[in-house]
Amino acid sequence: MYDFTPIPGAPKPALYADLLEAARAITHDEPDAVANMANCAALIDQFLPDLNWAGFYRMVGGALVLGPFAGKPACIRIGLGQGVCGTAAATGETQLVPDVHAFPGHIACDAASRSELVVPVKRDGAVIAVIDLDSPLPARFDAEDAAGIEALAAMFAHRI
Ligand code: SME
Repeated sequence: MYDFTPIPGAPKPALYADLLEAARAITHDEPDAVANMANCAALIDQFLPDLNWAGFYRMVGGALVLGPFAGKPACIRIGLGQGVCGTAAATGETQLVPDVHAFPGHIACDAASRSELVVPVKRDGAVIAVIDLDSPLPARFDAEDAAGIEALAAMFAHRI
């Protein structure tokens, strides 16, 4: 059993530091990418409040394909440049979207989603996956969330 308990009400930098250490610990010495993504999605879901979806899309054959996640069933394949995830994958840049309805081409997998954060996972300069977080709250994510998930993506680039 793994028992990682986020401190209630912790400031975001402390919360993300704890999340990073928990993800590092739970994936230490484990080469299986699916197992590592599954546990990381569960950790994100446990640590971060006000999410309705948290998980991975992997770059497979030039498109994003659904990976392990916590949340409702989601669209399986996303083309490069499509939606928020495909934009993050195509540009290699984090996408911080305060209002998904204002994002051209946003793909609605869960009608409850109002804001979204997508961070590319890069290895040797290439995007190999994205981490996607959705929230039912508008403007749920800010620069501290982006920095926290980017640190997680950097560590995870060598564990998936
Ligand atoms: N909203 C995403 C699609 C993935 S779901 O949010 C899980 C997008 O526009 O790419």
